[in-house]
Amino acid sequence: MSALLEIRGLTIDIERDTGPARVVDGIDLAVEEGESLGIVGESGCGKSLTMLSLVGLLPNRIRATGGSARFAGQDLLALPQEALRKLRGSQIGFIFQDPMTSLNPVMRVGEQIAEALIHQSGMAKPAAMERAAELLELVGIPSPRDRLMAYPHELSGGMRQRVMIAIGLAGSPRLLIADEPTTALDVTIQAQIVDLVRDLKDRFGMSVVWITHDLALIAGLADRIAVLYAGTVVEDAPVEVIFDRPTHPYTRGLLASLPTLTDRPMTRLPSIGGTPPEPGRRPPGCPFAPRCTLAEAACDAAVPKLAAVPGSDPRHRVACFVTAGEGGRA
Ligand SMILES: Nc1ncnc2c1ncn2[C@@H]1O[C@H](COP(=O)(O)OP(=O)(O)OP(=O)(O)O)[C@@H](O)[C@H]1O
Ligand SMILES: [Mg+2]
Repeated sequence: MSALLEIRGLTIDIERDTGPARVVDGIDLAVEEGESLGIVGESGCGKSLTMLSLVGLLPNRIRATGGSARFAGQDLLALPQEALRKLRGSQIGFIFQDPMTSLNPVMRVGEQIAEALIHQSGMAKPAAMERAAELLELVGIPSPRDRLMAYPHELSGGMRQRVMIAIGLAGSPRLLIADEPTTALDVTIQAQIVDLVRDLKDRFGMSVVWITHDLALIAGLADRIAVLYAGTVVEDAPVEVIFDRPTHPYTRGLLASLPTLTDRPMTRLPSIGGTPPEPGRRPPGCPFAPRCTLAEAACDAAVPKLAAVPGSDPRHRVACFVTAGEGGRA
């Protein structure tokens, strides 16, 4: 089966007065039709930039400088802005982190959803308002017809995020990208939003990419997890493999910081000291080596490539000289 989205060797550079600073350094990722992929990693590892590059929304002076990102057969990185704009919303829905900055505060939510529909499909206004009410109902907003008339500040944080999801779903996309859509919400509401997206994915057969800091949160939604570190994928595996046999020392460190899992008998880093490298200041070898308690001389000399883990699930890949040969040892 060919992937719906296949990113190969993606590099992204920040243009600085002193020259380009590499921030995404050769990312490989694939998402199958109907699959949900969780992307985890510390702040600043390039999660948002990677996804924004796909839909032509990189900030000023930040550019995709290499690689490809094939979506349904087309290379998104090579598409003109106008074609990307059409694809955005219609085939790829995007949910951003903070609804208060993404929603227009002085526009009623119904108008905002209708505007997305009119923009994407040229629907007439009355039909768009009708569809907007259906979408609000779909994302679990009570009395959707009344809510069409509400302004964003009149809704709770959870309800606003549901409105953002409704906008993301407006064009019935094949791929929904959610960039930390629940970080601003309390834990119970976060879980409700995750359940909602899982339900919508199952009903519509969408693919989902869900970016988060929080491995535990997406355990119930993701089929597969990609762990990013300093602009590269360091481990990629089915979700159960990530939890049962985490192999990269960074993944083990992330899991060790989850309170619910600390009682499990597993050799893990108790926590991860230090900070990731700044863009443009990557070490010559493995980017994680300076923080890694297992690092050996080889780790400073060359960058490990993402490769299959012998004896583990065939979809389990890891970029580590030290642990990759362990067969996904628990
Ligand atoms: N607009 C910008 N201008 C300059 N540098 C930027 C900009 N946006 C991002 N960066 C740099 O690129 C790095 C990666 O950014 P990105 O937003 O992709 O991180 P992230 O993994 O999404 O982090 P977070 O979890 O905090 O959202 C950041 O650490 C920052 O150094
Ligand atoms: Mg981000």
